[in-house]
Amino acid sequence: MNPSADELAPQHLITLDGLPRARLEALLDRADALRPEALGGGRRDALHGLTVVNLFFEPSTRTRSSFQLAAIRLGADVLNFEASQSSARKGESVVDTMRNLEAMGAGIFVVRHAESGAVTELTRRASATTAIVSAGEGRSAHPTQGLLDLLTIRQHKGRDLSGLRVAIVGDVRHSRVARSDLHALHAFGVRDVRIAGPTSLLPDPNEFASTPRFDALDAALDGADVVMMLRLQRERMEEGLVPSLEAYHRAWGLTRARLSAARPDAIVMHPGPMNRGVEIDDDVADGPRSVVLQQVSNGVAVRMAVLLAAARK
Ligand code: NCD
Repeated sequence: MNPSADELAPQHLITLDGLPRARLEALLDRADALRPEALGGGRRDALHGLTVVNLFFEPSTRTRSSFQLAAIRLGADVLNFEASQSSARKGESVVDTMRNLEAMGAGIFVVRHAESGAVTELTRRASATTAIVSAGEGRSAHPTQGLLDLLTIRQHKGRDLSGLRVAIVGDVRHSRVARSDLHALHAFGVRDVRIAGPTSLLPDPNEFASTPRFDALDAALDGADVVMMLRLQRERMEEGLVPSLEAYHRAWGLTRARLSAARPDAIVMHPGPMNRGVEIDDDVADGPRSVVLQQVSNGVAVRMAVLLAAARK
């Protein structure tokens, strides 16, 4: 079991589970304030002299690029560690990899790993001055995605999120994004958060036991303010959980017609990468209700705020 966030030293960010709402709000406010700099010239003096290592043991496009840009725009030295071309391929452990990079003066490690627990373990083994920031850990957490999703929702729906209806749809079982979103939405007191998907792709009943579950898309979308679609994560799945992509699309794919069950001002979110034509249709992904690219832009600002906190600034 992973520790909750309040059991960890505050420079680390591993999960949003257990983080006080005030701390989440402070990170979002800071990210909001950093937005112009995140997409413009940055604040190149903020982390000058600090080394940030991106340590990715799983593929990534958005998360890695935005952490890299965030670090550059704060003036840090950035090292992109390619696990696939490193001694990790010769069996060197993640902990030894980190220790060697610490010995070269790296201070912040942004880590993605397929195994739940692998990133958390680094917080126990790091030196006291090192900060560990999760960029996605197994199925368990993706805290900066949770933050950027909340920031995006707040930009559209205002600061008081308590009255919203949020539907999280699809492969919730394998999704670290869904878990971090659920942690954040609960921390913000959102009363109507629901998860929906085929039973084989929902979490075990004792996980998020008090979150309502829907086994039909139309009912789950009814009156929703926010529709969060998830990728079908075939790389984390045992065979046979989904009969066929066509059948999945028929039952769970978000089409323009099906979106009409949600509120007229509903926003549509997706963390990417999208399986177009499977969980979401092109005209929804690229349509007027989609905030998918705004999520991506917010990612840079959120990661700047998180890196500043990791540097205790
Ligand atoms: C997600 C991830 O890797 O957890 N992508 C992302 O970081 N935006 C979601 C996914 O892979 O489906």
